[in-house]
Amino acid sequence: MKQILLYFIACSIPFGIYAQLAVSNLKCENLTNPIGLGEMSPGLSWQMLSDKRNMAQTAYEIKVSARPDKKGFIEDEIWGSGKVISNQSVQVSYGGKPLIANHKYFWQVRVWDNNNNPSLWSEPAFFQMGLPKPSDWQAQWIQVAAEDNVQRPAQLFRHTFIQNKKVASATAYITAQGMYEAFINGKRIGDAYFTPGWTSYNKRLQYQAYNVTDLLKTGSNTVGAMLGSGWYRGNLAWGGNRDSYGKTLALLLQINITFTDGSTAIIGTNSDWKTSVGEVQSSEIYHGETIDARKEQPGWYTATFNDTGWQKALTENYDKNRLVSTVNEPIKKHETFTPLKILVTPAGDQVIDFGQNLVGFVKVTAKGKDGQKITLQHAEVLDKQGNFYTDNLRAAKQQNDYILSGNGVETFEPHFSWQGFRYVKVTGYAGALLPENFTAVALYSDMASTGSFSTSNQLINQLQHNIEWGQKGNFLDVPTDCPQRDERLGWTGDAQVFSRTAAFNMDVQNFFIKWMQDVAADQLANGSVPFVVPNVLGENSTGSAGWADAATIIPWNMYLAYGDKKILKQQYASMKAWVDFMKTKSVQNLWNTGFHFGDWLFYRPGDDNDGRSAITDKYLIAQCFFAHSTQLLINTATILNHADDAALYTQQLADIKKAFLTEYITASGRLVSGSQTAYVLALNFDMLPEKMRAQAAERLVENVKSYNGHLTTGFLGTPYLCHVLTRFGYADVAFKLLLQETYPSWLYPVKMGATTIWERWDGQKPDSTFQTPGMNSFNHYAYGAIGDWMYREVAGIDTYTEAPGYKKIRIKPLIGGNFSYVKASLKTAYGKVTSAWKILGDTMVMEVEIPANTTANIYLPTANQGNIKEGGALYVSRPGLVNKGREDNYVVLEAGSGSYRFTIDKQAAQQVAVLAILPQ
Ligand code: BGC
Repeated sequence: MKQILLYFIACSIPFGIYAQLAVSNLKCENLTNPIGLGEMSPGLSWQMLSDKRNMAQTAYEIKVSARPDKKGFIEDEIWGSGKVISNQSVQVSYGGKPLIANHKYFWQVRVWDNNNNPSLWSEPAFFQMGLPKPSDWQAQWIQVAAEDNVQRPAQLFRHTFIQNKKVASATAYITAQGMYEAFINGKRIGDAYFTPGWTSYNKRLQYQAYNVTDLLKTGSNTVGAMLGSGWYRGNLAWGGNRDSYGKTLALLLQINITFTDGSTAIIGTNSDWKTSVGEVQSSEIYHGETIDARKEQPGWYTATFNDTGWQKALTENYDKNRLVSTVNEPIKKHETFTPLKILVTPAGDQVIDFGQNLVGFVKVTAKGKDGQKITLQHAEVLDKQGNFYTDNLRAAKQQNDYILSGNGVETFEPHFSWQGFRYVKVTGYAGALLPENFTAVALYSDMASTGSFSTSNQLINQLQHNIEWGQKGNFLDVPTDCPQRDERLGWTGDAQVFSRTAAFNMDVQNFFIKWMQDVAADQLANGSVPFVVPNVLGENSTGSAGWADAATIIPWNMYLAYGDKKILKQQYASMKAWVDFMKTKSVQNLWNTGFHFGDWLFYRPGDDNDGRSAITDKYLIAQCFFAHSTQLLINTATILNHADDAALYTQQLADIKKAFLTEYITASGRLVSGSQTAYVLALNFDMLPEKMRAQAAERLVENVKSYNGHLTTGFLGTPYLCHVLTRFGYADVAFKLLLQETYPSWLYPVKMGATTIWERWDGQKPDSTFQTPGMNSFNHYAYGAIGDWMYREVAGIDTYTEAPGYKKIRIKPLIGGNFSYVKASLKTAYGKVTSAWKILGDTMVMEVEIPANTTANIYLPTANQGNIKEGGALYVSRPGLVNKGREDNYVVLEAGSGSYRFTIDKQAAQQVAVLAILPQ
């Protein structure tokens, strides 16, 4: 009754009073209206929207119900939080009655602002629980009785059932050993690809949940599923390795139906199901797919199909304890590309150029004769002569074969394979290649785009584009090193160096929450962390410094980016086990044993014929990461209130740093390796005492100068290079490195026409020849880690460790860099943050957007605070701004939420700029 009253009071408030305050963008476990949750206390988040300045939440109230009425009002509270005095609006844990498997819950929230005004109740959102317990599954695992184990055609499963009641709701829960596509009454269930995704299958196998209410009908219904080998048993890694998790594909599918009369039914896989094969003759992730349209069994997933020739499926007792709900976004189709050019190469091949190195496949439309075979081969680059080049794919064939049935216009695309490509070579196509018959489709995990970054320098904009496409091409359910050759593995080193950049471009929170669970699952009992996760390389392939540290670095980066302690709690044991492993392998706190990749792909002799090399002692690197991981563990222990651990590891860290000084620093303060990476790591991880740092930074700068303003760093040094230079007062040197156009540099590949980040600084040399084909991917995101510096320093958008996830925001752009404008934004859990500056005549304009329920320190680049204006008036007269004094060359203003437009005299900004500001 009370709620009803409140609801009507709220609704009767004339529109306008609270129009400035609204609550929206409700998320549960970081997803909008998710279904199939496994988390029993899901985290609820919302955003407070207001166009007024200085808006903050002072209290919230949440209601959760199983039965909303039409207006969204909730009658039977499962949980009413009551009014909670709190500014928390991100990941508030559900605290009501125990949530029940397969049940749907609706929720609403309202907030109070800092003037104690309540908002209206939000629109209702919902979440639906999955099947958390093995006993929630009545379906049985099914598989085929026998198969062609050489060709391994995709397997079809079907089952028809009759139900005569009206369906109120139905959810399909599906997983497989292998990859699946499923159908009801001829319609595809959902639009996800390569499901169930890739996890450490023997320990964790994800199932997906789909709302299939609209696919069912009264009467006969047919469920079908097609299985391909996928990661489960297809080729993975090298030397023809396959069957990583087993030899047998299997399907587990259950539909939970609720009828309008309140009764329920469960349809599941069992021995009544039948199996056969169809047109998908073979499919392998690396090698591609063969589809023979003549072998299609038309309508096999519909009720009228005659399946008398089909075999009975066998049931099997595969472990259901390893089943877990899916927390990350599934892989979906995204951008499509039509041919940019259709060309004939000097070698006479017909090749389509899609203009973008992308990951996905090409959809082909063709008309031809029965049995005619169309072959599509995929490549990232053309060689110096302009010929189709596939040597760098190593053993991966990346080839799709389509055999026509001859029945009119036919359309093909693969089901269980993807390719990394910009160019496609077509053979066997009858008639001219017309652009409308070939569409390249990009596939990647369906993460929301969160960041944007642009400047007045088009080369830098292309670099940002390449970083984003490196991410899109390699975030296919797991973070992979590359998407094209016979590798595509979850290399831990690559993932950690890129993780913070990734969190600017896209919402990667759930992506990493999921993958980090596999890191923990595949961690050895002694704490060592694999080179790749899921680990298909074996127990000896573990423990490399900078790779294994993904165990500590990624949870920490995700905590900073999203402000949620849950990932720290989830990973704490794993983080600690990794640090303890290093300790066990150390003698007197010096870790100088074991195999390490080192500063992978650094600049080395022969790369440029100058006889110099940037080799960094691998154990020096190991000691730096030992310290860094220990520091992150201390930070985490402190946040999670593990005071004993924090004290223990703080002592250990001091010993690790002492051991570093004894072993790797000469009496005159030189590092035994004089490379950029050595200085960068020692400085970034605070390995040196305060008094030695300035001198070390000078040596780093000298080194950069000795290479004529070029970097020489590999995978491990690159992410921190420009950060260290900026921190020690050499932002100008950092900008020179960023803007450097000759090899080795970030812009060299851009000048060579790259559309993604390359694995090597010189994947293609200035004379257009290639680096060694055994190791030359053109889509490898690691060096794209500069994106983090571009967002955090060039655009100046950052958060604070004490208030992570952008609850407190730092806006501190580096003005200059020969830009006339820089504009960046980031969609945070609270809303959009913008930092933009531009030159307009004699004025520098700085536009800043700070979302409600956050605060910011805005750094204004001027020697003279008297000339700062906001919204056309002197800033002191403007609401929401408090002067916090000067820092470096900036005036610091503390600001509440709102949109701000500052103007500063260009001359005054120029005085503090790093490199010149260009006129617009
Ligand atoms: C991968 C890398 C990985 C490396 C280990 C390569 O084959 O492509 O990116 O980190 O091996 O050093």
